[in-house]
Amino acid sequence: MLSLAIATALLTALGVSAQSPIYGQCGGQGWSGATTCASGSTCVYSNPYYSQCLPSSNAPTSQPTNPTSTKPTSGSPTSATPTAAPTAAGNPYVGYNTFLIPEYVQEVQAAVANITSSTTAAQAAQVESIPVFFWMDVAAKVPTLGTYLAAASAAGGKQLVQAVIYDLPDRDCAAESSAGEFSLANNGSALYMQYIDNIAAQVEAYPNVRVVFVVEPDGLANLVTNLSVQKCSEAQSAYITLVSYAISKLQQPNVFLYLDAGHSGWLGWPANITPAAQLFAQVLQGAGSGATVRGLATGWSNFFSKLDVSNYNLLRGAEDPAQAPNPNYDEELYINALAPLLTQNNFPAHFIVDQSRSGVSGIRTAEGDWCNVKGAGLGPRPSTNTGNTLIDSIVWVKPPGESDGTSNTSSPRYDTHCGQSDATQPAPEAGTWFQSYFVTLVENANPPLSG
Ligand SMILES: *[C@@H]1O[C@H](CO)[C@@H](O)[C@H](O)[C@H]1NC(C)=O
Ligand SMILES: *[C@@H]1O[C@H](CO)[C@@H](O)[C@H](O)[C@H]1NC(C)=O
Ligand SMILES: *[C@@H]1O[C@H](CO)[C@@H](O)[C@H](O)[C@H]1NC(C)=O
Ligand SMILES: *[C@@H]1O[C@H](CO)[C@@H](O)[C@H](O)[C@H]1NC(C)=O
Repeated sequence: MLSLAIATALLTALGVSAQSPIYGQCGGQGWSGATTCASGSTCVYSNPYYSQCLPSSNAPTSQPTNPTSTKPTSGSPTSATPTAAPTAAGNPYVGYNTFLIPEYVQEVQAAVANITSSTTAAQAAQVESIPVFFWMDVAAKVPTLGTYLAAASAAGGKQLVQAVIYDLPDRDCAAESSAGEFSLANNGSALYMQYIDNIAAQVEAYPNVRVVFVVEPDGLANLVTNLSVQKCSEAQSAYITLVSYAISKLQQPNVFLYLDAGHSGWLGWPANITPAAQLFAQVLQGAGSGATVRGLATGWSNFFSKLDVSNYNLLRGAEDPAQAPNPNYDEELYINALAPLLTQNNFPAHFIVDQSRSGVSGIRTAEGDWCNVKGAGLGPRPSTNTGNTLIDSIVWVKPPGESDGTSNTSSPRYDTHCGQSDATQPAPEAGTWFQSYFVTLVENANPPLSG
């Protein structure tokens, strides 16, 4: 029996135009595949690079810049029945206590014990009580989320747990060193759906605990700017389908989703910001009518990412020369510019902003520098006092003290950014504890930590 791929290739070779499946690509710059959609779906323009076959019940009747509300229908292929909008009811952080991730508290405690200056040690100890996100960068960490939810539930009161969903197949498609455990070539889509299903089961088991998820750092942002990278164009359709799937499966009233929106120095550029807003709207639409998210998360440097520069981007402040001439040179300018574009596209304009390492600006020699940048400091602490009604909370997504990447040139995961003159060296492998860098972050904290 012919595989579908071979059959499709044969039909194409014979000049028979195949149809794209539901959620498949059906147009866009450089696209040579089918431009018609399987029965029950409609080709919807998303951005100059991408049109997608969406279920007809979800497809807007006009351009996405003029969204039409769709009547609820059953039978969306990606979801059962998304519950109505309770997850968008309000700022999830207000009135809730944010759970401290035990594994990070332990890392910081070990670090404090190894600092000789008593002043610095006392400052560093304050970091133990600052909440960071738990990164589920492999499926094996999902059960740990369950133990944190159980602990938060047992603590009683209004508890909120923060975690990052980060395991797309062919992850971090514009880079090599951040590749994840799943690949599209090896059943990655099904394995990812199982990862999401397992997360959904954990949060369903603790309906009294609020959960904030940041969804897939860099994933959609790479589709806005990096489709010229083959791995990204090949993963494009899967990323979109799978993030829609994650949204559709996580429609519990205790769950608040913020899709990753890169940061000002990436999607804040004028050429990128409109396609980005359209892509977020498309992905939400793909989750089925009635599905919702709380908003977007901006501002951090990804755990392993080669691209991401943020964490060094200020929420608001003087222009970092490395950012010029981007008019949206800080996170607040980016958010203020993005919000109306989202609203036009029927996507909720609420934000959280990572500031864990944004204490010091003007330290990069180039905007794209991201690796353990010298002279960085801890930034503003998590707070709902953001000075901007679009921003639900300042958060710390990146756990400060964990390395961005190794400076060892013989390591298979070595990235040249980690060998540049503005990168701290020697540096350990990405994700592992970097004691001397943590000490620098503490000493340069802005606002300062009390000692
Ligand atoms: C303390 O930090 C130094 C590097 O700063 C490291 O070599 C040493 O292994 C650390 N010791 C402990 C007990 O963590
Ligand atoms: C792909 O993964 C899913 C989910 O784990 C599993 O049910 C299925 O058997 C796998 N398929 C193959 C071909 O390995
Ligand atoms: C991905 O896009 C960013 C932003 O436009 C760009 O700086 C970077 O060079 C691209 N990466 C690759 C591998 O092309
Ligand atoms: C650098 O990486 C190579 C290859 O992984 C390894 O053999 C070597 O021990 C590393 N050097 C240091 C100083 O860690």
